[in-house]
Amino acid sequence: MTKRFEKLSGGIFLVYGKLCTKNIVAGQKVYGEELLHFEGKEYRAWNPHRSKIAAAITNGLKNFPIKSGSKVLYLGCAEGTTVSHLSDIVQENGVVFGVDISAKVMNKFLYICSQRKNLVPILADAAKPKSYRKELEGIKIGVLFQDISQKEQVEIFLANAKMHLKKKGTGMLSLKARSINSFGDPKKILEEEIKKLGKKMEIKQIVELSPFQKDHVLILCEKT
Ligand SMILES: C[S@@+](CC[C@H](N)C(=O)[O-])C[C@H]1O[C@@H](n2cnc3c(N)ncnc32)[C@H](O)[C@@H]1O
Repeated sequence: MTKRFEKLSGGIFLVYGKLCTKNIVAGQKVYGEELLHFEGKEYRAWNPHRSKIAAAITNGLKNFPIKSGSKVLYLGCAEGTTVSHLSDIVQENGVVFGVDISAKVMNKFLYICSQRKNLVPILADAAKPKSYRKELEGIKIGVLFQDISQKEQVEIFLANAKMHLKKKGTGMLSLKARSINSFGDPKKILEEEIKKLGKKMEIKQIVELSPFQKDHVLILCEKT
């Protein structure tokens, strides 16, 4: 029988069997997600088909590194679907810097940022990590997450880790084989990229994201 309520890790819950975060802006949806209520508190369903982090948690990601108070740099925030759940998790004492190259998606994200004070929008190219050094000045980033559809995904991630992630900080990289190479065996393409990553970061866990995403993995790693 499905439990009515279960706490998975700091800030992540199963409510009536659905993966959820506790809504820090009660009554407000961000992307049409379901709102659930349990013992007077409101939770937002976190759809693994809409978020690679939710897919990785559903598929067995251990030691989720983001919690209340975390300082997160998120590359490829788009309209803020996943970032909004991280905003619930880090709460008012944490912060999520959301970087995206597209002014179009930033418009929607700006609206979400106006409602959630722990989100900071940065319109920039993640391949140029120096360009947002000023925004991050004096902040010790503990978690770097990246989800961008670019050929040079690993190189961009490593450049950001080098410049912005604190020592022993956690990296989470969502890798999409088809953005790197549209031909060839996706398994081999991912293996090559993971090898490159492993030379610079300590790999802790690799989670496949199927059936939610095709030819995609999420890699949890640590800056040494
Ligand atoms: C798959 S979407 C991200 C979805 C988002 N992570 C979520 O779960 O809600 C990829 C995003 O990466 C952004 N992007 C692609 N190349 C980028 C770059 N070089 N720098 C910053 N953002 C980039 C795109 O504009 C797009 O919004």
